Amino acid sequence: MDIIRLVSEMQQRAISAQAAGQTISFVPTMGFLHQGHLSLIEEGRKKGDLLVLSIFVNPTQFGQGEDFEDYPRGLQQDSDLAQEAGVDIIFAPEASDMYPDGYATYVDVEGITDNLCGRSRPGHFRGVCTVVSKLFNIVQPQVAIFGNKDFQQLAVIRRITLDMNMPVEIVGMSIFRESDGLAMSSRNVYLTPELRKQALVLSQSLLKAKALVESGETDCATVISRLRESIACQPDARIDYVQICHQSTLADQDHIDIDSVLLLAVYVGNTRLIDNGYLVQNHD
Ligand code: PAF
Repeated sequence: MDIIRLVSEMQQRAISAQAAGQTISFVPTMGFLHQGHLSLIEEGRKKGDLLVLSIFVNPTQFGQGEDFEDYPRGLQQDSDLAQEAGVDIIFAPEASDMYPDGYATYVDVEGITDNLCGRSRPGHFRGVCTVVSKLFNIVQPQVAIFGNKDFQQLAVIRRITLDMNMPVEIVGMSIFRESDGLAMSSRNVYLTPELRKQALVLSQSLLKAKALVESGETDCATVISRLRESIACQPDARIDYVQICHQSTLADQDHIDIDSVLLLAVYVGNTRLIDNGYLVQNHD
């Protein structure tokens, strides 16, 4: 496994691999790999001849007062895990090479970025869309694999690739959960044992919502208010949003149907956690 730090070197490797007829599969990450990332890598292994994993904590997707500085990092541990998982190349650029002096180009996706995380984290998707577009131009993958935990991010990335005619197949992978249901996230490391217990309120909310729907409830406002009540019982939980949206447009819905996805963002202590799930059982 090679670790490439330079944008120019990575792009040259990608061009040579393409010329040799290799299919490049790509897993973009911000590192601090967990089992969820490893499931993306495993899928990437199946989809291409050359598997590239990027590790880059992208400054442009963090807002003021967010956790850019504190975001967990560990390149040595990540490279051990990546090597074991069969990654061919880790691309771990420096921010100064990705965004050199004079950098002035940003990618914005309209509409589906207005709601949910786009609303609570202004500028976040502009940063994500910019870095993902750049990474696609550098790594030149035929296939890129993302996790469904960032449901809105995945929808936004599908939108850019479609709108910008990028020749990349986007694959979304199911949320990987701890045995007690907590969705895996690099940010879980911030949680103390007490907060870790309270964080279960996210996955439990999904179960509760599904149970309500199974028992015949179809009114989104009713389901949301029941969930808000139970989240409020956790002393250190603070709701950012609890919404039921259409899976493709991400617009809020009034009534639950086959396209309904429950999306949650909750601060547990100072850690902002997200989770989501379809509410009608023939997805996931
Ligand atoms: O999901 C992430 O880890 C990041 O948002 C991504 C897609 C790697 C862009 O920085």
